[in-house]
Amino acid sequence: MRKSEKSPREGIYAFPPFPVVLVTVRDSIITVGAVHLFSFNPPMYQIGIIPKSYSYELLEEAKEFIINIPTKGQIEILEFCGTTSGRDVDKFQKLGLTPQRGKIVEAMLIKECPVNIECKVLRKIDLGGSHIWFIGKIVAVHMDKNYDKSATVAYGLERKYREVGKVIYTRPKKQG
Ligand SMILES: Cc1cc2nc3c(=O)[nH]c(=O)nc-3n(C[C@H](O)[C@H](O)[C@H](O)COP(=O)(O)O)c2cc1C
Repeated sequence: MRKSEKSPREGIYAFPPFPVVLVTVRDSIITVGAVHLFSFNPPMYQIGIIPKSYSYELLEEAKEFIINIPTKGQIEILEFCGTTSGRDVDKFQKLGLTPQRGKIVEAMLIKECPVNIECKVLRKIDLGGSHIWFIGKIVAVHMDKNYDKSATVAYGLERKYREVGKVIYTRPKKQG
């Protein structure tokens, strides 16, 4: 290997792709690549939201959101929800998506996505960076019985959506 020095920002771009999801807050949708596990027990997820977005404004009040996991057939939805604002357009209506009330939270879930994860915000973390983080406790999950993880989408920055890779090794279960 012959390595050269790179900038901190290039470190971000070098990172392998993350899953990309559609987050709903109340009845609006935003595409989010900054999404990650925060805790296994209790189950918590975190999302990073840019403060100028309409979703940020809604989240500040609602303190609830739903992570909707899209499939690779839904790239156009990811693109549209990631380039238009709910301030200007009703994204559900424009895309012909079906809003359905969450079981616990007041946000609408996207019926056409195979998994919907309802979260209540426990904490907001603002370190002055581009994204403000919302840590959400998972309070309900809806999953299609034919859900196939390999049909989901990852986003590797540089404007590239990618397929999720195939399984190359399954770790053995702990003994005893
Ligand atoms: C692939 C992709 C990933 C994105 N990831 C994020 C993200 O993690 N956080 C965020 O706040 N915005 C992200 N965006 C940008 C928002 O989706 C975009 O600003 C959107 O128009 C905001 O909508 P709103 O004003 O209705 O909230 C992403 C956009 C794309 C296309």
